[in-house]
Amino acid sequence: RRIVILISGRGSNMRAIIRAAQNEEWPARIAAVISNKADASGLAYAAEHGIPTLVVANKDYPSREAFDAALQSKIDSFAPDLVVLAGFMRVLTTPFVAHYADRMLNIHPSLLPSFVGLATHRQALAAGVKLHGATVHFVTAELDHGPIVAQAAVPVLADDTEESLAARVLEQEHIIYPRAIRCFLDGRLSVHDGVVRIGPDAS
Ligand code: GRF
Repeated sequence: RRIVILISGRGSNMRAIIRAAQNEEWPARIAAVISNKADASGLAYAAEHGIPTLVVANKDYPSREAFDAALQSKIDSFAPDLVVLAGFMRVLTTPFVAHYADRMLNIHPSLLPSFVGLATHRQALAAGVKLHGATVHFVTAELDHGPIVAQAAVPVLADDTEESLAARVLEQEHIIYPRAIRCFLDGRLSVHDGVVRIGPDAS
């Protein structure tokens, strides 16, 4: 089985997935890491680990549709079973999302459905919540609204800053995301008609 990971920046979740994939029993190969930004620092790390890397720069395309079409053809050249968004900071078009329906995962740094979009840690501090966290979900057309696969919660402490809270959440992201991906690849996680199935007979 093969996965393709999409990044835009530092790629710490991508690193966690690469580390997990070094385990002998990991059921898939990371076929490629693709970034929409040429300067994404995660690209070098992937290349050092022998993973093919590509840049499909959104700034080179006249429209969102043209970019997504180019990205799709690059992804499909690796024939992945699963597409993994790992800090990929682009809103995707409906046809692109439909093409990868039920086989594209994202991680979002909040306990969805709270705090969609950007600056989730700032949103959490402003709301005064005492629990915050991260969510792995299947990607659907509506941003940050796909079926939820896994969540991890962390406490919000009285002296937290955006940075301290982000770091506490990120540590959990690095645990739950590789685990969810592995479940999918093992056939222990799937989604049908928006309903997530987790367990030995999920496929
Ligand atoms: C993570 O917080 C992830 O949840 C969000 O963007 C951030 C990406 O970080 N979607 P990294 O590039 O994986 O380090």
